[in-house]
Order: sequence, then C-alpha cells, then structure tokens
Amino acid sequence: MEDYVKLEYKGEVYRLPVVTGSEGEKSVDISKLRQVTGFITLDPGYANTGSCSSAITFMDGEKGILRYRGIPVEQLAEKATFKETAYLLINGRLPNQEELTNYSILLNDHSLVHEDMRSFYQKFPRASHPMGILSSMVNALRSFYPALADIEEESTIMVTRLLAKVRTMAAMSYKISRGHRVVYPRSDLAYCANFLNMMFDSPVRPYELNEDVTNALRVFWILHADHEQNCSTSAVRIVGSARTNLYAAISAGIAALWGPLHGGANQAVIEMLSDIQRDGGSIEHVVKRAKDKNDPFRLMGFGHRVYKTYDPRAKIMKKMCDTLLPKLTIRDPLLDIAKKLEETARKDNYFIEHNLYPNVDFYSGIVLRAIGIPTNMFTVMFAIGRLPGWIAQWKESMYDPNWKLSRPRQIYTGPTETEFIPIHQR
Ligand code: CMC
Repeated sequence: MEDYVKLEYKGEVYRLPVVTGSEGEKSVDISKLRQVTGFITLDPGYANTGSCSSAITFMDGEKGILRYRGIPVEQLAEKATFKETAYLLINGRLPNQEELTNYSILLNDHSLVHEDMRSFYQKFPRASHPMGILSSMVNALRSFYPALADIEEESTIMVTRLLAKVRTMAAMSYKISRGHRVVYPRSDLAYCANFLNMMFDSPVRPYELNEDVTNALRVFWILHADHEQNCSTSAVRIVGSARTNLYAAISAGIAALWGPLHGGANQAVIEMLSDIQRDGGSIEHVVKRAKDKNDPFRLMGFGHRVYKTYDPRAKIMKKMCDTLLPKLTIRDPLLDIAKKLEETARKDNYFIEHNLYPNVDFYSGIVLRAIGIPTNMFTVMFAIGRLPGWIAQWKESMYDPNWKLSRPRQIYTGPTETEFIPIHQR
C-alpha cells in the first residue's frame, strides 16, 4: 500500500511519498516538491533533512545506539581490529582471514609517502596547526599520485593510498614539527602499533610497544570510524558530488573536522579542563558560563546534534580512562575535574532540560594524553579514525543510482531589483 503524507496549501492537496528505513525511521520524500508545488523546504543546519539513503551506519540518538553495517560499536570495540573495521565499513562486510591478510599486505605496500612531500612539510611555519597541514597535504596527494587511466583501479588505489599514507603523514607532521628525524612505517607492525612507533620511536630512545596503549588507540579509532551524515562526512559527500577526486574530498572533510564544534572539541575539552585546573577548580563558574545566553562559551564535550542521551562512545571512553590510567600508573588530575564537571552539569536543570550529556570528545582527550599524544594532535587522531567512514560514504555516493550534484536552494532575503549607481553619484 502506498504510504504518503498530505501537504495542503490554499485548497490544493499534494501527496508526498513516505520512505521507511530498515530500522523503521521515516522520511518524507520531497525530491519532487519544487517541481510539483513551487515550494522549497527551509531547514538551517539540516537538522531535519536526510541528504541520502545509506547502508553504512545506524544511529539512534534517543536510545544511544551506534552500529556499523549492523554491528554494535560496543562489539567492534571489544573484538575487532581497526583494519577489520575499516574493511567492514568500506566493503560492507567483515573480511575472511585471506582477505584480511591481503588487505594488510596492500596497506603495507602503500604506507610510504613520496620523499618529495617531506620538503613540503618542512616549509610550513612551526606554529601551524597539524589539521591545517594534514588537510593541505592530503589534497596535495593528487599532485604526487596522478590519476590512473582505469577508473576502477584508480578508485581502489586512492582508497588504499589514503588508508596507508594518512597514518604515516600524521606521524611525519608530528616528527617534523618537533624537528626530529622521520620514522618510516614497518611491515612487521600492525596498524595501530605501526603508527605509535612512527610517532614515538627515536634514535636515542627506542619506542617500547605496550599492549594497553595499542589497545586504547585501537578502541579510540574504532569508535571514531564513522558517524553517518555529520559535518565532515557531509563535506566529503558534497565535495565528492562535484566528482572531485577523493583526496580533495577527504581534505575538505579534514578541514570541517578541525572545527571546535566538531572534531576539534577533543582538543577544546582538554584546554577547558586545564583552564579549570589553573583557576583552582572553578567548575560551578564554567557551568554558569555555559548556561549564560550572553556568553558564547559552551561546555565542550557536551551535547550532540543526534544523541539526546549518553553518547555510547563516551561511555566506552570513560570506562577506558578508568582502566587504562591505573594500568599505566598515570594519575591525571584532569580526569577528576572531568568527572566532577560531568556530575555537576548532569544535576543541573539546564543540562537536564536540554538533554545535554557527555559526547565522545569529553573523555577521549584524557585517553589520548595517557598514551602520549600531544594536545594539538588530538583532532588528527580523530581524522585518522574517521578516514574509513569518509571513504565508505564517498564510495557509496559514487555508486548511488540516485546520485545528484549537491546543490541546496535558499530563500533570498536581500534587496529586490535595484538600479546600479555609478561611482561619482554615490
Ligand atoms: N553547552 C551549553 N549549552 C549547549 C551546549 C553546550 N555544550 N550544547 C548545546 N547547548 C544548548 C544551546 O545553547 C541551545 O540552547 P537554547 O535552545 O536554549 O538556545 C540548545 O542546547 C541546542 O543547541 P544547538 O546548538 O541548537 O544544538 P545542536 O544540536 O546544533 O548542537 C553541538 C550540537 C555539538 C554543536 C553542541 O551541543 C555543542 O556546541 N557542543 C559543544 C561542542 C562539542 O562538544 N562538539 C563535539 C560534538 S561530538 C563529536 C562530533 O561528532 O563532532
């Protein structure tokens, strides 16, 4: 039976089809709205707009559910490797042993970065933010690796290069920013261990891999691997919709993720907690500021466009803080401040009424600090984790039979037709 909603305007009735997703979520298909009625919809920030149909990630913001290709993120965080998770997102299913082995070989083969890119890195001013550098360098990959003639092969190799090289590039930017020798990837190390080794190995102090640290990074990256149509993923899809190359689309995603309301929040949370520590623990003052409508300050790491309950990723990150820090014999005063801040905010009516709970960024910075990642690299860590999701979403959009160039409309509110006045008469 046809399912539709009725739209009535000045006696005219229009029927708009209802489209239902596999988890029962409903949408009104307005793709013919303007053609049939002359109307467009107005939805600033797209909070009520589905930009595509997607089979990759399911979120239920009311129940706090997150699944990749149907598998709960909790199960992946407990049992999967990051590489398996990337394969799952990008290829739609978990790999078997042979596929995973071949995937590892392929990623290893592509993990080196063109030597000429190093001179690019060295020219960035020392104070440059690593997210700006990463976004530029990912875009520059097109210049170093021109397109292949075979479109299928080119698409596969771009995906492989990105997964293999972004990790190397991120570690490289850290080493260069410190004026240290770059450490090359090693084929005998797994994905997370390889990254940690490139970040922290040095000729004067060889890096000792620690299972708890590697595991924490694995969980962090899995939790960040996809989150359906968020700001950076939408940026990747929108830029990709112009049939721009994948490197440019991912570069746009990295730029979007940099923002403090999105991925940059993990850095902003640590800065906020450090400010509280410096001021002698004025948690009430911070909560008061966050509620003040005349103050642009927001409680960083709190609130989410979709989750109106506890972010499932934040639950895992909080638990990780409680298990990882004692294992590494770390006592981080910022963890105590974060817990007190959460407790105070969650008792406060403003936060209760606005459904504001900790999001993934609230506790993730404390985990990253514990494994030795410097604060200005936090959002880069998020970007490496989100890469499989961006790639999966880009790939899905490339093969979408309903694909269209992304081009929203607007309601114009400027002056109506106005005569040009020559400069001497103004
Ligand atoms: N502190 C204080 N008030 C808040 C906060 C916050 N962190 N978040 C939302 N609000 C209030 C906001 O002031 C508004 O109040 P009112 O309706 O009275 O004017 C109401 O809640 C709704 O806010 P909104 O900005 O319309 O809601 P949104 O769904 O667009 O916000 C958000 C989502 C993430 C931008 C916002 O919660 C925020 O700015 N949080 C802090 C930054 C942050 O932690 N970002 C990381 C998000 S999770 C990682 C990721 O996936 O990117």
